[in-house]
Amino acid sequence: QPDLFSTLKGNLGSPYFAPFQNDKEKGWIHMRKYVIAGNWKMNKTPDEATALINELKPLVAGASCDVVVGVPFVDLPAALEAVKGTAIGVAAQNCHWEKSGAFTGEVSAEMLKAMKVGYVIIGHSERRTYFGDTDVTVQKRVRAALDAGLTVILCVGEYLEQREQGVTGEVVAMQTKIALGGVTEEELKRIIIAYEPVWAIGTGRTATAQQANEVCALIRNTLAGLYSWTCADDVVVQYGGSMNAGNAAELLAQPDVDGGLIGGASLKPQDFAAIVAAAK
Ligand code: 13P
Repeated sequence: QPDLFSTLKGNLGSPYFAPFQNDKEKGWIHMRKYVIAGNWKMNKTPDEATALINELKPLVAGASCDVVVGVPFVDLPAALEAVKGTAIGVAAQNCHWEKSGAFTGEVSAEMLKAMKVGYVIIGHSERRTYFGDTDVTVQKRVRAALDAGLTVILCVGEYLEQREQGVTGEVVAMQTKIALGGVTEEELKRIIIAYEPVWAIGTGRTATAQQANEVCALIRNTLAGLYSWTCADDVVVQYGGSMNAGNAAELLAQPDVDGGLIGGASLKPQDFAAIVAAAK
């Protein structure tokens, strides 16, 4: 759909070009700090979580990016214990918007805060597709997470049919705008956006580096419209969807791709560590 992104053509993110700095030796270098986050989804028991993190720790000890593991709720205590003394962050995979109440099966942002969880993934397409999350409930969850002091990894992305219909840009911009409704400039500093095309998740069909960059740039453009270019330049926009040790370097070399949200490969310490190593 070449025309979809016509407004962005030739525009590598911001007009100020802040994501890159011209280094005499290295050429253009990526200035935003990369964030590589694993989304374990519904995998690993607490004991297995401890083992996986213990294996991961030495492999990412020298990372030049931020590293986060997104674990099932029941694994949070084990994960928080296992990462002690390291720079690895821990994320939950969802949170409810109310502080407490009659919401069987839900976990509130306040509860995560009480456990000292740093991050929460919100609006993942699996939550939207299988568990009825909508742009409006995503907005409410984002609000609660920010109020609780958490950093949000907000997921957006189009279905295959939407890409084929040529509405990827509209879908992703709408999801971003609604999710960030009411989010202040100051709060935006605790928002990471993960662009995850649904057709690339768990399918082995990765978006091309160009496709990933186009939509990440479009998200940044949307943020610039909502806030300013100065704010938009500082936001980490990740790509997610079949990112692995083999394709990470090319995806991460894109000017508007500032990291990855990794599913399957995050369950294999060596593979996840290879992606972390590619983020520099
Ligand atoms: P995969 O890396 O398994 O495709 O999953 C991506 C994802 O959904 C991360 O949130």
